Amino acid sequence: MNYHIVTYGCQMNVHESEKIAGILREKGYDKETSAEEADVIVFNTCCIRENAENHAFGNIGALKKLKKQKKDLIVAVGGCMAQEAGKAELLRKKFPFIDVVFGTHNLSSLGELIDRKRRSKKAAVEILGERGETEDGVAPVRTSYPNAWVNIMYGCNNFCSYCIVPYVRGRERSRRAEDVLAEVRSLVREGYREITLLGQNVNSYNSDGNGGMSFPELLEAAASVEGRFRLRFMTSHPKDFTEEAALVMKRNEKICPQLHLPAQSGSDRILSLMNRRYTREKYLSEIAFLRRHIPDCEVTTDLIVGFPTETEEDFQETLSLVKEADFSSAFTFVYSPRTGTKAAAMDGQIEESVQKERIMRLVELVNAQTRAHSARCVGKTVEILVEDYDEKRGMYLGRDRHGRMGYFASDRNRVGEFVALRVTKANGVSLYGEPEEIRREENGTIADDATLPGNQGEV
Ligand code: 5AD
Ligand code: SF4
Repeated sequence: MNYHIVTYGCQMNVHESEKIAGILREKGYDKETSAEEADVIVFNTCCIRENAENHAFGNIGALKKLKKQKKDLIVAVGGCMAQEAGKAELLRKKFPFIDVVFGTHNLSSLGELIDRKRRSKKAAVEILGERGETEDGVAPVRTSYPNAWVNIMYGCNNFCSYCIVPYVRGRERSRRAEDVLAEVRSLVREGYREITLLGQNVNSYNSDGNGGMSFPELLEAAASVEGRFRLRFMTSHPKDFTEEAALVMKRNEKICPQLHLPAQSGSDRILSLMNRRYTREKYLSEIAFLRRHIPDCEVTTDLIVGFPTETEEDFQETLSLVKEADFSSAFTFVYSPRTGTKAAAMDGQIEESVQKERIMRLVELVNAQTRAHSARCVGKTVEILVEDYDEKRGMYLGRDRHGRMGYFASDRNRVGEFVALRVTKANGVSLYGEPEEIRREENGTIADDATLPGNQGEV
């Protein structure tokens, strides 16, 4: 039987979809196909901004015809949007053909819900409150070799005033460090070459005492796992990112010199209204410390424009932060009011035309800065971990240690290899070049490239 999963939103959701695939495989859905050929289609939704929700609504609605043609097709909707207050009912009302609805706290019951729906005509809907569980029982079907994601914690305690995540994902629950480390060890043994530790706020790992060690300790322990691999982590909150974590990055070669540190705004007044609990000065001093110790460390960020009451002066402070912090890239968002959050009820919501004009100016600045960072790589050699083959360009692609995409031509499969790329050209965010030397797997646990998961064979 075939399955198809549609994922919206962040890396957390991408990894969760790998777990959904794991559950479906256990139920006998053993092949991933297109929606048209699937026996079950799962929408793993996001509700962080209105456009993510609209996107999902549009795609689910578009299934009506297929569902009419294929009576046995099961359509399941889960994730953050399904968990949002009142949304499960709305989804069922708008799209009566939906068979299964599940939330963020009962991912692991998807299999059971599908069975329930198969037994009866009625839709199987189950949205649970927080149960304090960590979803560790589900084995993912990993789809991103040579990269692998590992959850270290779930949920968020921060209640940034614009953000719906704490409402749909519950309070912070840390996985036990020994379980995280066992997973990292096993991934490295299986041949994964880049591991990203995931959490909404990784720096407050172990806030519930369940981890057994602090985030810097966990990071160092993960970096001490034997084998050749890279380590990354996301997302860090500036109020919790510590000098200790920066020093662990410095001490451990395996940890990439790149930090994703969402600033959200450059204005102290807006940061305070956002309930971010740091100032611009503190933010800048953190990255100054980081760069003092790791001079080549690059910082990426998230920025929101058009937050309630944001003035042109506040916005100018965000623009000046981009320059001062010298971000190598940034995800930029227009503020989107989320029902139930504090900011949605604030006076001073900003007009759409003003938001649009500001985001355009911000994107222009960020793009120029990204191009400048990429251009500085020309003539240098960067280490690329090869991820895939791009049919359109006829080139292999992968990321350097700073997270930049690099492309090169090769007549044999390089997926999963570390390649030293001499950069000859930079085009916007991407680098192009020629491989200088290929560093073969050194630890001897992998005898033959053909045994690597995800190996695509010669092209
Ligand atoms: N509107 C716009 N952007 C948001 N983000 C979170 N909530 C909102 C919202 N209501 C952005 C933040 C966060 C990223 C994942 O999404 O920048 O860091
Ligand atoms: Fe949302 Fe703030 Fe938590 Fe990030 S830290 S998930 S922005 S509430």
